[in-house]
Amino acid sequence: MEKQKAIGFIGSPRKNGNTAILTNELLELLKDSFEIEKIFLKDYNINPCKECYYCTENEECSIKDDMQILYPKLKEAQVIILSSPIFMGGITSYMKAFMERTWHLRKGQLESKTGSYIIVGRRDIGSGKNEMEEYLSRLKVNKITGVLGFGFREGDVSTDEEALKDIQRLGSQIINLNRKNSANE
Ligand SMILES: Cc1cc2nc3c(=O)[nH]c(=O)nc-3n(C[C@H](O)[C@H](O)[C@H](O)COP(=O)(O)O)c2cc1C
Repeated sequence: MEKQKAIGFIGSPRKNGNTAILTNELLELLKDSFEIEKIFLKDYNINPCKECYYCTENEECSIKDDMQILYPKLKEAQVIILSSPIFMGGITSYMKAFMERTWHLRKGQLESKTGSYIIVGRRDIGSGKNEMEEYLSRLKVNKITGVLGFGFREGDVSTDEEALKDIQRLGSQIINLNRKNSANE
């Protein structure tokens, strides 16, 4: 049987940064059960929503940029992981623009999927957790509580034992949920 996909969407400008480190750890745990993919949002040209409301009539976005590459990826993934550092008390603008551009997918199109998140801040994650939770609620996916990591310089999070333990917990939860869902199919 073909493996389902687990995709990590990363909103950090640092490809070897703390958010990427925790996302790599998670994807590594998932790789026997899923086909895994890692996407750095900074590699894609993603404009913010321009509030034209085209999507309310058409269930697609009118802006023809690299989100057109990412929409099919979101739809084909069974597991969606959103990873972001905290910048100024919230998720990064890479992640925020990505989220805004999925407004037309909030009507249950992704409800059979599993979603979670990874957040890394130096000290104060501000509204980051709430933003992730709110977004996943709006997408109506099966939400699993995400992981918070702490670190500042590249690599710092590798010594955050609690975050690493939480990644193990998240990996197991995702695999177990997927097993249960497959058994019910
Ligand atoms: C512009 C900017 C704003 C930041 N604001 C916060 C903040 O509000 N709270 C916090 O805990 N860390 C803040 N940080 C620190 C980063 O979240 C931290 O260095 C994180 O590890 C970066 O993740 P990365 O290595 O994946 O890029 C900020 C960093 C930058 C560059």
